[in-house]
Amino acid sequence: MSLIVAITGASGVIYGIRLLEVLNQKRIETHLIVSNIASKLIEYETGKTISKIKKLASKIYDVNDLAALPSTGSFKVDGMVIIPCSFKTLSAIAHGYADNLITRAADVMLKQSRPLILVPRETPLNLIHLENLVQAKKAGAIILPAMPAFYFRPKSIDAMVDFIVGKVLEILNIPHDLYQPWRGKIEHKDISPGA
Ligand SMILES: Cc1cc2nc3c(=O)[nH]c(=O)nc-3n(C[C@H](O)[C@H](O)[C@H](O)COP(=O)(O)O)c2cc1C
Repeated sequence: MSLIVAITGASGVIYGIRLLEVLNQKRIETHLIVSNIASKLIEYETGKTISKIKKLASKIYDVNDLAALPSTGSFKVDGMVIIPCSFKTLSAIAHGYADNLITRAADVMLKQSRPLILVPRETPLNLIHLENLVQAKKAGAIILPAMPAFYFRPKSIDAMVDFIVGKVLEILNIPHDLYQPWRGKIEHKDISPGA
């Protein structure tokens, strides 16, 4: 299996880094593209260097190199994940504005009917954000917002990150044990006043 992984300049670059770590452990081939602002956010939000992150990928590409392999449909990969996905990149994808290697590779995924998973992060959302989400969904993208759940009582930020990365792996049918799936039962406690 081989995947294109793109990290863009939304908060939450840790999600992209963790996905790369897990795919690396599973020996899945990864083709990494990092946007210019994402490189800065990686250092700012995680304290890690971009060169260290790049070592997790099988191959890396310059986001400005529109002649690189991911820009063509004849480059066979099993899908692409943009994690996190900024709303700027999402808007470009929703409107077919393929002006860098990330948005071009995403455009190719949609035209070739291959899985394209977008992990957007922003809050609150304006109408433009919401309409672009719908437009991207209509075009065939899978929208998987960076919205960790709490029903499994996460004990750490890492656990919340793993929840989102696990959701991505599920869509791609990659087995994982990053979080405990919901078991279908809630222990009801009496929360009435005085109980
Ligand atoms: C510290 C910081 C945090 C940001 N967080 C977000 C975010 O969570 N979501 C988002 O859509 N944009 C966010 N932005 C804005 C994007 O980085 C900006 O729109 C940029 O043009 C995205 O470019 P890219 O998609 O090519 O990486 C953030 C910018 C900075 C500097």
